[in-house]
Amino acid sequence: MPPKKSLSRQEGTGKRAAMARSETQVGIVGAGPAGLMLSHLLHLHGIGSIILEARSRSYCEERVRAGVLEHTSVDLLRQAGVAERLDREGLRHEGIDLGLDGERHRIPFVELTGKCVTVYGQQEVVKDLIARRVADGGDLRFECSEVSLHWIEGLRPIIRVEKDGAVDEIECGFIAGCDGFHGVSRSCIPTRSLATFERTYPFAWLGVLAEAAPSREELLYMHHERGFALYSMRSPRITRLYLQCRPDENIEDWSDDRIWSELHARLGCSDGWRPTEGPILQKGVTGMRSFVVEPLQYGRLFLAGDAAHIVPPTGAKGMNLALADVYYLSAALDAFYRNNDERKLQSYSQTCLQRIWKAQRFSWWMTSMVHCFPEDSPFDRKRQLAELAYVTSSRAAATSLAENYVGLPLDGA
Ligand code: FAD
Ligand code: PHB
Repeated sequence: MPPKKSLSRQEGTGKRAAMARSETQVGIVGAGPAGLMLSHLLHLHGIGSIILEARSRSYCEERVRAGVLEHTSVDLLRQAGVAERLDREGLRHEGIDLGLDGERHRIPFVELTGKCVTVYGQQEVVKDLIARRVADGGDLRFECSEVSLHWIEGLRPIIRVEKDGAVDEIECGFIAGCDGFHGVSRSCIPTRSLATFERTYPFAWLGVLAEAAPSREELLYMHHERGFALYSMRSPRITRLYLQCRPDENIEDWSDDRIWSELHARLGCSDGWRPTEGPILQKGVTGMRSFVVEPLQYGRLFLAGDAAHIVPPTGAKGMNLALADVYYLSAALDAFYRNNDERKLQSYSQTCLQRIWKAQRFSWWMTSMVHCFPEDSPFDRKRQLAELAYVTSSRAAATSLAENYVGLPLDGA
């Protein structure tokens, strides 16, 4: 439906401005994996949505972040008909290596669980979803500013948004807050109605994207006395690497030479394997936190993805959790619009939180096992080494890691 044009007074400014009014069944704030996938799944159910995104399309499509898709997420993308390029270009990984001071131990996912993961950059998932939404005539609005939510406790909440100097008031059946950790949606919920659970870690990750052909086929998570390091990849030409660093690390202090020398020191293996070097295309420091708010719903506002929870990246769960949330939310909205059945909307928060807390536990556990904690006592250090030795020598312990890494089942929504 084309927006209805009207002229009304802008709240608080006293100015009269051209104001469009639109309507949609679901107003979605944020065009990350959560917002885009939700809009696509709703479209498949015949439910309309409008996506409002603060950044430009190219910024969203180029932002380098996650890289590992659980088998559950791959299945979901396939069922939703948006996995054509993923199936062509995604790298199937049947296991990972866990390393301890130069010795590697493989965790064979397929042998232990029958399942694998796929390495495919988050920005590729985002590109595929944007292309599909545009092809399907979806209403995606990039470069929106002053996004604010109103009347979220009522039956017709409103998103007010400015774009190209004009204001639009969008009347929604529901609002999905998919705007990440720093978005506006979560802050619209009164603090007395939310419980927050949080842990920050005394380290961060220095992430590097390098133009270098991967010199191994699988990821290597290396525990080292100089700090944790991760060897990952994006494509047959691009390597992705991470180094544990201080949370206040200044990226300017890390020349390319210093990065490679530290990567060699931490990742080098006793059998002579070393990461292959290449020009560094991008580098940046990312803090580590575990964070959950409960519940994920307030009135007609539903939170999904990083807007509601953050995991440290060690377990590769963030993007996967975001996709799982919107799978449940789209099914709940479908039940509402199709059968006027509100039960799944009412249980949305509880349903997601069960999975979210399992992913939190796993991400915290992986993080604790492979990093160096500056405050650790000699007892803690010995316990950590025993944990690594146990996981790499016990089939039962390795199966537990593998089962969580490849993704716990998405129960029928
Ligand atoms: P986002 O991707 O953050 O999207 C939110 C969107 O909302 C953004 O486009 C933002 O611009 C927009 N927005 C924000 N505020 C507003 C506003 N006021 N108005 C309108 N729009 C707004 N996860 C994994 O699963 N596997 C991994 O291997 C992995 N590795 C990671 C490595 C790094 C270095 C980082 C930083 C993250 C990693 N993650 C990983 C986490 C993963 O990237 C996130 O969990 C994922 O992006 C969450 O998706 P989302 O859609 O919820 O949020
Ligand atoms: C990545 O490739 O970016 C990546 C892989 C595994 C992780 C985190 C990030 O645990």
